[in-house]
Amino acid sequence: MQAVIYTRYGGPEVLRLAEVPAPVPGDQDVLIRVRAAEATKSDCEFRSFRFSVKWFWLPLRIAAGISRPRRRILGSYFAGEVVSVGGRVTRFAPGDQVYGSTGARLGTYGEYVVVPERAAVGPKPRNMTFVEAAAVPLGGLNALHFMRRARIKPGEQVLINGAGGSIGAHAIQIARSMGAQVSAVDHPIKEDLVRRLGADEFIDYTTVDVTTTGRRFDVIFDMVPGSPYRRLIAMLQPGGRYLNGNPRLSVLVRSMLDKTVSAAFAPETPDALATLTEMIEAGKIQSIVDQAYPIAEAITAHRRVETEQRQGAVVLTTAEPSAR
Ligand SMILES: NC(=O)c1ccc[n+]([C@@H]2O[C@H](COP(=O)([O-])OP(=O)(O)OC[C@H]3O[C@@H](n4cnc5c(N)ncnc54)[C@H](OP(=O)(O)O)[C@@H]3O)[C@@H](O)[C@H]2O)c1
Repeated sequence: MQAVIYTRYGGPEVLRLAEVPAPVPGDQDVLIRVRAAEATKSDCEFRSFRFSVKWFWLPLRIAAGISRPRRRILGSYFAGEVVSVGGRVTRFAPGDQVYGSTGARLGTYGEYVVVPERAAVGPKPRNMTFVEAAAVPLGGLNALHFMRRARIKPGEQVLINGAGGSIGAHAIQIARSMGAQVSAVDHPIKEDLVRRLGADEFIDYTTVDVTTTGRRFDVIFDMVPGSPYRRLIAMLQPGGRYLNGNPRLSVLVRSMLDKTVSAAFAPETPDALATLTEMIEAGKIQSIVDQAYPIAEAITAHRRVETEQRQGAVVLTTAEPSAR
């Protein structure tokens, strides 16, 4: 099959299209023909091995490969069609249109991927194309996890720091669907996008330091590495909750000692994906696609993600194998 591979860490130019063996499913696995895959900020971080949060550099490097990447095919979030299923699989059948996450197994930047049946994969929303569906699981699963953890009540004031990114943009929509008033902090080029997604207020971080505004919030969801988290926590109303999706070590330690602080990584489950699908089909979550590129243009796609000019997700697509 064709896949975008990388055999050393570095800039976008380390990515290249190559012919590689297609993955082989086991008894409890599903073989999926990938139609679209999100190119995420995390993919770029794995490719370059530059992470803004430093504490997990060493454990991640050991897991990912010390001198070169152990898994040559990047990508975790996808939409596609089931080609075949292992003998013990009951949840899927050939021809099913699905979307979801391969998690730490990666592998979605290729024409085929194998996932275990228990992975966070489920039927593709009926009202979305493959490209639109592939743009949801990263932001949707992570945002749903944190917004549920925040136990938002209708009418509460929620501040989302980094609201125009993949996770923040889904958090706006989910917090709004829970009845919150949402204030969104990001770069001014993302103001239109976050307002379209339902943000009630926009704060431009390039000109305003939100921590000096004297405002108070019930929930603060922070996706920005290196944010002034102590000052953000000081902006909470009594009973307020601070959630950090990109925690440095000091935030992690604080989350163990302080009940108002939460910094857990999002588990990705089939149940959470099914909830997202229901919300999408009920019109509560829309997919936000900046641009789709054929996998042959993966370098351009990664550059687009890294310039931070994008308005929504960057998606890679594969052509029908017979069309090549
Ligand atoms: N906790 C988890 O389970 C989990 C899961 C997946 C990913 N992550 C991590 O979470 C991070 C965010 O993910 P993502 O995919 O949403 O990233 P993303 O799409 O790049 O979003 C980050 C957003 O924050 C904005 N931003 C940057 N500096 C800011 C500042 N000082 N104040 C306010 N906004 C600012 C960025 O805008 P500009 O840069 O354009 O200004 C961008 O819109 C990544 O580093 C990723 O590795 C965590």
